[in-house]
Amino acid sequence: MDSKIKTLQEKIAQAKLGGGEQRIEKQHQKKKLTARERVEYLLDEGSFEEIGILVTHRTTDFGMEKEIYYGDGVVTGYGTVNGRLIYIFAQDFTVFGGALSETHAEKICKVMDMAVKTGAPIIGLNDSGGARIQEGVRSLGGYADIFFKNVQASGVIPQISAIMGPCAGGAVYSPAMTDFTMMVEDTSYMFVTGPNVVKTVTNEEVTSEELGGASTHSTKSGVAHITSANDIECLEDLKKLLSYLPQSNKEQPKKLAYTLTDEVRDNLSTIVPDNPNKPYDMHEVIEGLIDADSFYEIHKDYAENIIVGFARIGGRSIGVVANQPLFLAGVLDVNSSKKAARFTRFCDCFNIPLLVLVDVPGFLPGTDQEWNGIIVHGAKLLYALSEATVPKVTVITRKAYGGAYDVMNSKHIGADLNFAWPSAEIAVMGAKGASEIIFRREIGAADDPVAKLAEKEAEYADKFANPYRAAQRGFIDEVILPKDTRRKLIKGFSMLENKTVVRPDRKHGNIPL
Ligand code: COA
Repeated sequence: MDSKIKTLQEKIAQAKLGGGEQRIEKQHQKKKLTARERVEYLLDEGSFEEIGILVTHRTTDFGMEKEIYYGDGVVTGYGTVNGRLIYIFAQDFTVFGGALSETHAEKICKVMDMAVKTGAPIIGLNDSGGARIQEGVRSLGGYADIFFKNVQASGVIPQISAIMGPCAGGAVYSPAMTDFTMMVEDTSYMFVTGPNVVKTVTNEEVTSEELGGASTHSTKSGVAHITSANDIECLEDLKKLLSYLPQSNKEQPKKLAYTLTDEVRDNLSTIVPDNPNKPYDMHEVIEGLIDADSFYEIHKDYAENIIVGFARIGGRSIGVVANQPLFLAGVLDVNSSKKAARFTRFCDCFNIPLLVLVDVPGFLPGTDQEWNGIIVHGAKLLYALSEATVPKVTVITRKAYGGAYDVMNSKHIGADLNFAWPSAEIAVMGAKGASEIIFRREIGAADDPVAKLAEKEAEYADKFANPYRAAQRGFIDEVILPKDTRRKLIKGFSMLENKTVVRPDRKHGNIPL
């Protein structure tokens, strides 16, 4: 028996070495942790149980039968993060550059299946040279098996991808179909075709970092939801993100204990400037409303005219969608609509109530927006918020103009509680624009058109640049003082806890894509 135990121990020791010490050293030189180090860091101490440690590939082409590594370039298994079960796969760049073989894919699929069956999040740590070139189409089949499972798991369990090295070609589509893509700055990149192919096809000269680095995807493309300075920060971010999420669509996010006390926040009264054209930072409003230091922003540097992120209010996990007057006056455009729609749909999938803060002058005008399909993209947000059945609460802090008023979680599209601050202006458009249209003839005929416009503008503003017409119709449930808003929200979300909505029987809706 002793010799048999020794054999097993030797195999496990060999597996834990991955591609060997030299390649581990190379990985460290690139300022990257190894797959095993990442798993160890992410999971609670001693909680990781590995599955498939002795799996090897089955390829015999190109002398591959002589190059066998236990685990076949991916570490898979389960464990806990802050006491909660998660499943994980971490690609091991020290083995064939983490390239995906048929067996490597089978290992990933196995943990994905287990995650769905037991209702727990699946985390993928990606660090791979792509399809295992020696395996050809079997490797491509492996990717497709994973893609298919990503789709089956979508909306059932949270799926999170952290890109911690290369991720190119077909490999990008699994992360793209998961709920969140995180990227490590400087050491990770994602692209469908690399710089060499780009040069050949389009004659563009571009580096990997410019084409698909963390900064590109977090600012230009929006592919990355979160970026982190290094591996450790990325894994810490992952833990934080998980803390807001439930285990699956069958569960509610964990609520922290909270006792309602004095929830008055006087500082909220001074954030919105008197001048409606002056910007302010909606982050200040968010911070004033939520539990201290609980905001975790998603897509921070992308489409900054809208803010999305997770927070806690009275201990409860919520999703926040908020116009940001500091950028483009908080208008809705193509990118901000897509960003907010995707976030809304995630929250709705996983029973996370939504708080929508509104200060929106409308949609961004111009050929760029129209030709890029603002009609369809704006419709995504309208659709997503209309479709969401989680508790939905709106606070209008200032402008809610035109179609954007409807889109931003209005009562008409199913919001449960609609509040407005006294500074709210709920109207078809701003007073100046409105007066120029409806009083055009009167202004044109006046001796002093400028004075007449000012007079008419004041008249229109007096009538419509306030929340009271909307409140009279019941479109606003209550006009509230900024300082009392936090209390109203805590009580409102608590009241809505058991909200249920019966939906018509259908295969699925047809969101404008
Ligand atoms: N299939 C099989 N092996 C691969 C591989 C792949 N797709 N990608 C990398 N490897 C192997 C390399 O042969 C090398 O093996 P070795 O340790 O025995 O020398 C090891 O992984 C590390 O690769 P290396 O090129 O030395 O690392 P790098 O950091 O300099 O470059 C990449 C990383 C990903 C840019 C580079 O390996 C690459 O371009 N790979 C091919 C990408 C590709 O075209 N994939 C297929 C289409 S999706």
